[in-house]
Amino acid sequence: MRATEIADNVYWVGAIDWNVRNFHGYTTPRGSTYNAYLIRGETNVLVDTVKRPFFDQMVSRIKSVLDPKEIGVIVSNHVEMDHSGSLPLAQSLTGAKILASKRGVEGLGLHYDDIVVEGVEDGQELHVGNRTLRFMETPMLHWPDSMFTYLVEDKILFSMDGFGQHLACSRRFDDEVDQDVLMYEAAKYYANILMPFGSQVLKTFEKVKGLDIKMLATSHGIIWRKDLGKIINAYLSWAKGESKEKAVVVYDTMWGSTQIMAEAIADGIASEGVEVRPYRLADSDRSEIMRDVLDARAVVVGSPTLNNGMFPSVADFVIYMRGLRPKGKIGASFGSFGWGGGAVKAMREHLEKAGLEMAFEDLEMRYVPKEQEKLKCFEYGQIIGRKVKGG
Ligand code: FEO
Repeated sequence: MRATEIADNVYWVGAIDWNVRNFHGYTTPRGSTYNAYLIRGETNVLVDTVKRPFFDQMVSRIKSVLDPKEIGVIVSNHVEMDHSGSLPLAQSLTGAKILASKRGVEGLGLHYDDIVVEGVEDGQELHVGNRTLRFMETPMLHWPDSMFTYLVEDKILFSMDGFGQHLACSRRFDDEVDQDVLMYEAAKYYANILMPFGSQVLKTFEKVKGLDIKMLATSHGIIWRKDLGKIINAYLSWAKGESKEKAVVVYDTMWGSTQIMAEAIADGIASEGVEVRPYRLADSDRSEIMRDVLDARAVVVGSPTLNNGMFPSVADFVIYMRGLRPKGKIGASFGSFGWGGGAVKAMREHLEKAGLEMAFEDLEMRYVPKEQEKLKCFEYGQIIGRKVKGG
C-alpha cells in the first residue's frame, strides 16, 4: 500500500477501515479512517498510529517512503486506542522515542506495559532538521490527554479528533469529495463525540486563533486543505449551541397511540412553518438522531408507559442524549398510558438533567387518542412551533 504525499515530504500513512459499522456505540455506515502522518527529514517523525488491527497497513504505507527503522520520533496526540493501539508495535519496530502530553504519558501508561513515553509541555517546540513541531494541549478534545501538533513551516495542524469524520474514502482531501456527505459526517461526528465539550472547543479556538493554518490534518476521514473556513465556522456554531427553526420529535410506540400523538404534534409544529423531523426509535439509530438534534431548537420526546416507566428504546435515547449535554435546546415530554403512567415524568427528569429547558407542560393521554385528543396534540405542536420561532 502507498503513502499519499500531502505536502513536501509530509505523508499520510494511515489506514482505511471500510468495514467498521459501529464505533463504540455510534453507527458508522460509511466506515472510517485512522490517519497517521509521516514527516520525512533529518529526523523522521510519525504523528500518531492506527487501530491495532491496521498496523500492517500503516507499516506498508510507511515502507513506500522509507524504512520504518529510520523513524526517530513518534508523536502521540491522543491516547484513545483508535490512534494509540499500534504504538507498542511501532516502538518495537522502529525503536523511536514516543512523545505525548503529560496526561498522555499517564494515559498511555494505563493502557500499555511495553512502551516508553516522554512528556512534552504545552507550547513546547521540537526542532527536527529545518522543521519545527509545536505541541499544544487541547484537553477534552476529545480526552484529557489530547493535544494538537502544529508543523510550523508547513502550516499544518495535526488536529487529531478535531474536525474529523467517520468517512472511509479513497480520496484524502476536502476538495475531492461530495460536500454534502462530508458535512453530514462532520456534523454527525461532532454531535456524537464532541457535543459535550463545546466550551473546550471554544477555548481551543482561542488558543489556535493566532496560527496561520493551511491544512487541518485530522485523525479521521478527509484532510481539510481548501475550505477550512467551512468546517471552522461549523464548529464555532455547534460549540456555541446555535440552532435553526427546527424541531426533532423522537418517540417509540407500543400499540400505536404514542405514534398518533407524535404525528399530530409534528404536524402542528410544521403548520407554524418550522422544519420538523420525526423519528420512531424502533426504526431509527440514535447517533443519526443526534446529528439532527445538533442544530434543532426543540427536542420533543414521546413514550408509552411500560411497567410504570419509559419504553426501553426511549430510555436508551434519553440517557444517551443526557450524556451528550446538548446546548441551548428547549424540550417537551409526551406519551400515552393505560392506567398508572410514569414514562412522561421519567422522560422529563432525564431531559432536564440533559440541560434542556422544559418550556412546555407534559402532554399525556390514556389509551387511544380520539379526534378531540389528536386536535389537542396538533395544538401542542403549534405551541412548540411558535416557541421555536421565538414567540
Ligand atoms: Fe479518534 Fe478520541 O479517538
